[in-house]
Amino acid sequence: MTQDELKQAVARAAIDYVAEGEIIGVGTGSTANFFIDELGKIKDRIKGAVASSEATAARLKSHGIPVFDLNEVERMSVYIDGADEIDHSGAMIKGGGGALTREKIVASVADRFICIADESKLVDVMGRFPLPVEVIPMAAKAVGRALAHLGASPVLRSKDGRPYVTDNGCHILDAAGLQIDDPKALERQINQWPGVVSVGLFAVQGAAVCLLGTAGGVRTLAF
Ligand code: 5RP
Repeated sequence: MTQDELKQAVARAAIDYVAEGEIIGVGTGSTANFFIDELGKIKDRIKGAVASSEATAARLKSHGIPVFDLNEVERMSVYIDGADEIDHSGAMIKGGGGALTREKIVASVADRFICIADESKLVDVMGRFPLPVEVIPMAAKAVGRALAHLGASPVLRSKDGRPYVTDNGCHILDAAGLQIDDPKALERQINQWPGVVSVGLFAVQGAAVCLLGTAGGVRTLAF
């Protein structure tokens, strides 16, 4: 099976977690896109969705799925999204697609984070995937120095030769070279640095369930 076929399989499996008549939180990225396409097929069974990025909002709307502002929604039973890495405790690295801050905000309002990922994303220790950190542009160098102090090699993400700009008008540092033995502690530490908008560690509030696409079928990991 190709990686895309594995992503498609978990996207299909995630539909079982969508409660009838509810608003659900929807993530960003290629796996989330497969999920949105599946959601489009059952759109009459849900009230709508809250999007974690402008790209996700556009894709949801293209399927005719009503998109709600998070300020209109008090709670959601599920938030469904991919990950760049997930460990055996349900902690994740996210933000490869640049939407980490809104993903964390939308996920925080949901009872359960359902992670959908192909098996390449499951790791024993996170950090091989460079950790994304969204920063206020004027803080990029200062936060970069603090990340280097932790042993990381941070790089300012760029697109078309210019700094990448998030949906929030901010920049992203990708911090390679970290071995993340205590994801919750590192998330709390980086979160409190001035200029950090959010860090792409989802450990304090990690996944409740991971639907993992493997050659042998979709495995359900509960944390
Ligand atoms: C976007 C994300 C994505 O969930 C993450 O990058 C995984 O993406 P993909 O499903 O394309 O592998 O965090 O900000």
